[in-house]
Parts: sequence; C-alpha cells; structure tokens
Amino acid sequence: MKEKNLVIVGGGSTYTLGIIMSLIEEKKNFPLKKITLYDIDEQRQEKIAKATEILLKEHYPELKDFNYTTDKATAFSNIDAAFVQIRTGGLYMRELDEQIPLKHGAIGQETCGAGGMAYGLRSITDMIELVNDIRNYSNDAWILNYTNPAAIVGLALQKEFPDDKRILNICDMPIAIMKSYADLLEKDVWELIPEYFGLNHFGWFSKILDQQGNDLTNEIKNNIINGDFLPADKEIANDESWIQTFRKARQMLIDFPEFLPNTYLQYYLYPEELAKKETPDNTRARQVINGREKRVHELCDHIIFQQTTNDINVEADIHGVYMIRAAASLVFNLKETYVVMTENNGIISNLPADALVEVPAILTNDGPKAFSVGEIPAFYKGLIENQYAYEKLVVEAYYEKSYNKLLQALTLNRTIVHAPQAKAILDDLIEANKDYWPELN
Ligand code: G6P
Ligand code: MN
Repeated sequence: MKEKNLVIVGGGSTYTLGIIMSLIEEKKNFPLKKITLYDIDEQRQEKIAKATEILLKEHYPELKDFNYTTDKATAFSNIDAAFVQIRTGGLYMRELDEQIPLKHGAIGQETCGAGGMAYGLRSITDMIELVNDIRNYSNDAWILNYTNPAAIVGLALQKEFPDDKRILNICDMPIAIMKSYADLLEKDVWELIPEYFGLNHFGWFSKILDQQGNDLTNEIKNNIINGDFLPADKEIANDESWIQTFRKARQMLIDFPEFLPNTYLQYYLYPEELAKKETPDNTRARQVINGREKRVHELCDHIIFQQTTNDINVEADIHGVYMIRAAASLVFNLKETYVVMTENNGIISNLPADALVEVPAILTNDGPKAFSVGEIPAFYKGLIENQYAYEKLVVEAYYEKSYNKLLQALTLNRTIVHAPQAKAILDDLIEANKDYWPELN
C-alpha cells in the first residue's frame, strides 16, 4: 500500500486529537506520508496542532510531513483524502440552536428538530465553498464529510455537486451503537455485520449477524430489554448525557420491538418528555464546552508543557477508527462494508429515489455500492418520508431563500408539529442566525 496524504478540515475540533490517536493505531490499515490540519480559526487550531505535532513525532515516526495551516492552497494541494468536520458558528451557535426551540417548548438539538435546521442552514454555504476549494487543488481526493447535520448537508452537496462521486457522507452513530451491542455479546465490534436502513440520525438496525451468519438480533434485544444499554466507546462511556441517551433505547424497543433504533430517534418519538428534561443554561453545547472541550484542551496544554506524550495513553476511539477504515476502503478499494449515506435510487424500494439514505454499502474506489434493502413496513416508511420531506424543504428553502418552506419544514418536524410554535421558533432563529443564513423572502 502506497502512503497517502490526508487533510483534516476543522483541525481545531475537539475530535481531532482522537482522530490523530486513531490514525496512529491504524497506521497499518491507512498508511500516511503527510497529515495536514486546516482550520479558519488559527488560534483554536494551534493548540491542537502543537500537541498533535509532539504526538506524531513520538508515535508516528514514519510520517514524513505534518503541518497545520489556514491557507487553502497549502491544505488542499496534492491530497488523497479529506476528513471534514467543521462547525459553522462554533459551539456558541450550537448553544443557541438548543436554547431557542426550548424557549418555545420544543427540544433543541444540534442535528434534530429546529436546532438541526438552524445549523444546517449555516453549514451549507461553508460546505459548498469547502468542496469547491478542495476540488480546486485536488480533483480526485476522497472527501469524507461528517459535518452536521449530515442529512441536510449531504442533501445540499448532492444537489450542488451531482456528478462528484468522491464525496462520502458518513456518521459514527451506527458503529458507536454497534460497539455497545458488541459489549453486550462479549464480541469484537468488527465481527458484527449490520443490516440497517433509514436516514442519517433516523434509522434502525433490522438485523445484526456474526461472521458465520448467525442472527444475533434477538439476543441483543433481550439483553437491552432485560438489562441496561450503555455507551461503550471510551469517548462517551462516562458521559452522563450519552448514558441517558443509550438507556432510552430500552424504552424505544419496548414500545416498538420490531427493529433496533438509532439513539437519535428518541428526539422524534418522545419530544415533549425530552424537552421537559432540558435545562436552558446547561444544554449539550454547554456540557461539551465544560466537558470534552475542556478535557481536550487541558490534555493539549499538558502535552505542550511536557513536550512529550510519555505519560498519556494513546488510544484510538471508534469514531476515528471508523472514518479511517472507511477512507482506507475507498482509497485502496478494499470493498469492506460500512453504514454510510448514499442516494437511494431503489435501495429502499418504497422510498423516493433522491432520498439520501443511510444503509450498509461496500466501499470501493468507485464509491459506495449499497446492498438492496427492499420494502420497509408502513410505520418506518411514514416516519422516514415525513423526516425526508422536512430535510428536503430545508435544502430547497436555502436555495430559494424561502421563509415559507422553512415554516413548512418545521411544521412537519416531529419535534414541533404545531404551526404557531414552528413560526415562533423560526422567527427567533432568523434573528439569531442573521450573520449566517441567507436572507429569506
Ligand atoms: C454522534 C453523532 C455525531 C454528533 C455527535 C455529538 O457522534 O454521530 O453526528 O456530532 O454524536 O456528540 P456531542 O458529544 O458533541 O453531543
Ligand atoms: Mn452523526
């Protein structure tokens, strides 16, 4: 395998250090000669980059080149893959996305409901610019996008770049859930083979098999219903919010026992209950600022102060490993199976052809080749079509600058439903996002 060049866009993200540690552990699977961090926020990136530099020097001596930059030409020239993890408006705007709907009694969440819509309308402009920038310098690079809300961003990219077959929208939630299944079964997560269908953050596992083809689905369901379902990956295992989120899978499974739910369905199935539980001055954004962000920045400061990583554990996380292995499968044509987003075109036969569905697919150097799912039952079809209409309306509203389509979108969204509530939330979001959103008609 020839070594590749990778750029991480959003180098200042709190996820970058975990990705770097995962790249170190995965160097045999995805050998690199060059890693570049790129961010528009020079200061935020610098802290992460300086720690990364030491980490790489000590644990990745084979790497010939590491740099960090805010210059597009330096970042995007001669690259084979880009991991894109940007957050337009930062955690500051994330907090508003969560607080504003809450003020009107609806759950605010970074990817679900009105918060997701607000974030989506902010992300689209930057993502389009970014893809154009990358393509300017590296026409054939694989772009792995996990910028949120991936469902909306992905649809917009599909509309803007219909012929670009080297953009892959991907999410780590299915594998993070599978890691918990693996723990329940006392197996390795990479031994599990998923059957999965839906939209991003809106899907279900219909089956989990092992490598020999044994169906483990009922064992998993019984374990969840009769026990406790918890986050297993080290990045989230001790996080109170993720613990509560995973626990909710039990309720979902008791109410709807047919398939194993993605954790994000909690926001759509129990919106009122979840909204009631939220505290406006301690929504998820605040928890991330006081939790993961603080932890990562302290770790960076420590590494930079010591000028060594001798006394820290270099450990991959499932998020990083998933992105890296998926990228390797695309770049090296390994034909391994991952759950990714791809244009439906009949994969789920009773859903619209242009929907961006999340399903298992073989990742080849000609892009993802999804397995056929066939028809899905009425309940799931109804839910997905409703959610897809919301997502599509948000993207159309972005292009048409349509207030009306946003109001339709929020009225369809299961976290809201009531038109007056949708209108009140929308009007507040417009005000809060006036530096980011297109001006609406
Ligand atoms: C999962 C999802 C991501 C999301 C993240 C939020 O990993 O797949 O799309 O960004 O959770 O986690 P946080 O800890 O920031 O709330
Ligand atoms: Mn995700």
